[in-house]
Amino acid sequence: MTDPNAHRLWIQEALNLQLAEPDARTLGQRLYDALRGGIQQGRLPPGSALPSSRQLAASLGMGRNTVLSAVDLLIAEGFLVSRPGAGVFVADWQWGTQQRLEAPEPLSVALSQRGERLLEFTAPSSERHTAFAPGVPALDRFPRERWQRLLRRHQQRAPVEWFDYQNVGGVSTLREVLCDYLRLARSVRCRPEQILITQGAQQGFELIARLLADVGDSVWMEEPGYGGAQACFASAGLALQPVPVDGDGLNVASLRSETPSPKLIYVTPSHQYPCGATLPMSRRAALLALAQRHGAWIIEDDYDSEFRYTSAPIASLQGLMDNAPVIYVGTFSKVLYPGLRLGYLVLPPSLVASFQRINARLHREGQYVAQAALADFIGEGHFSRHVARMRRCYRHRQSALRQALAPAVSNGLALSAGHAGMHLVAYLESHELENELVHQGKQAGLRLSPLSGFYLQAPGQPGLVLGYAGATEAEIERAGHWLSETWLSLTRHSISHGPV
Ligand SMILES: Cc1ncc(COP(=O)(O)O)c(C=O)c1O
Repeated sequence: MTDPNAHRLWIQEALNLQLAEPDARTLGQRLYDALRGGIQQGRLPPGSALPSSRQLAASLGMGRNTVLSAVDLLIAEGFLVSRPGAGVFVADWQWGTQQRLEAPEPLSVALSQRGERLLEFTAPSSERHTAFAPGVPALDRFPRERWQRLLRRHQQRAPVEWFDYQNVGGVSTLREVLCDYLRLARSVRCRPEQILITQGAQQGFELIARLLADVGDSVWMEEPGYGGAQACFASAGLALQPVPVDGDGLNVASLRSETPSPKLIYVTPSHQYPCGATLPMSRRAALLALAQRHGAWIIEDDYDSEFRYTSAPIASLQGLMDNAPVIYVGTFSKVLYPGLRLGYLVLPPSLVASFQRINARLHREGQYVAQAALADFIGEGHFSRHVARMRRCYRHRQSALRQALAPAVSNGLALSAGHAGMHLVAYLESHELENELVHQGKQAGLRLSPLSGFYLQAPGQPGLVLGYAGATEAEIERAGHWLSETWLSLTRHSISHGPV
C-alpha cells in the first residue's frame, strides 16, 4: 500500500472533483454515494485510509456532522471500518478490487405456470378507465366530503385495539347495521356474528376457495362469467367447470351427467354477470337441491343488486330457506368505490370461527377506521340516499348510451335489456367484428371489453360489455356515437347521421 497520507490526499481531491458538479442531491447524500461507489467499483481498494472528518469537512465545504453521518452509515453497512487511534479505512470488502460489483443484466422474468395462466384473466394494469369500463361506479358522484368527515370522526376516536392484530371478523357496529340492511333489503337470513368483513368480494372468494375446496376439486362457474372469480379459483388450483348461461341464467340442466361433481358452485343469481339474467325461482330451488345432493357450497355473488331500474331488488338465494348451503358474498365496490376494499361474507354459523381465524392468519384484519365510518354511513341513512341517487344517475347514463347507440340498434345491433346493473351487452355477429371494434376502440382511446373474454372456453359468444356507470353522460354519448358509427361502417349499413 502506498503512503496513507498521499492516499488520503488523493481521496480528498477525487471527492472534491466529484462534488463540484451541480447535483440535486444533498451534500451528505453525495458524499455517501461517492464513497460507496468508489468502494464498490474498486477505485478505493480495501485498506485505503480516509481523510479525517475534519479535513473532509473543510476541503469539501460541508459541516463535520454531515461528513460524520455519511461515514457512520458506511461503517454500519460494512463498507468502512473505524480503527480507534488510527482513523477510518475501507473495509476488507469481500468482492475485492478484481471482482467489481457491477449491475447485472435485468432478470428474465419467468412466471410460474399458475402465474402465466392468471395473466389470461387480467387486462394490462396501466390502462386508464374510459367510458365503457365495466364495473366502475360513478366516482364523480360519490359524497367525498361527507365520507372524509366520517373517516376523520373515527380516526380521532380510534380505540387502541384498532392498532393491534385482531381476530374479530370486523368492527361490530358495521356487522350490526349491515345485518339489518341485508335482512331488510336482501332477505338474507343472518345474525351479525355470521358476517365476516373482508377486503372486497375478491378476498371472500379467495377464503372460500382455500377453506372449502382442495386442489383439483371442481368449481362450477357461469359461462360466460366474472373474471375475478375465475382467476381466484384458478389460482387456488381448482378445476373450473363452465356451466352454460341462457336467458334465465345458470343452466345446470344443460350439463352432461358425467360432469365432475362440484365442491363449489359460483353464481350471480340476482343479475348474471355479464349477461344480466335473473335466476328464476324454479332454477333457484333446483340449484339448492343439487348443491345439497352433492354436498357442495353455493357462492352467491350479489355484487350489484342495489341497482335495479324496473322492479324491486330480487330476494337473495341465501334467504330462501334455513340452513341453505349458500355463502353470500357482498361488496361495497359498486355502491361506494372499489378502492375502499371492503366487502363481506355471510357464513353459515358452523363456518364462522374457522373463516375468522384463517382470514386473520392469511390476510390479517384491518381498515377498522373505514369500517366504522361505513357503519355510520349506513346507519345515518347516507348509504340508502346514495343508492337512490345512483339508481337515478345510472338510469340516465344507461339511457344516454341507448340513445347514442340508437342508429346501430335500429339497424340490427342487439343490446341487452338493462333492467339492472352498470353495463349493457351488445351482441355481435362475429369474432372478426368483435376484434375489429376492440382494435379500432383502442386507437380511438376507448377500452372495449370483448364478451368472448368472459368465457372460460374459446371461442365464446362475440359481443361487447359496455360499462356506463363510471363515465359522465357527455362521455357516454361521445363514446356511444363513436361505437354506433363504427359498428355501422364495419357492418356496411349506410344511414345519415346528425352532427356528433
Ligand atoms: C361479478 C362481480 N363480483 C364482484 C365484484 C367486486 O369485487 P371486489 O369487491 O373485489 O371489488 C365485481 C367487480 O367488478 C364483479 O363484477
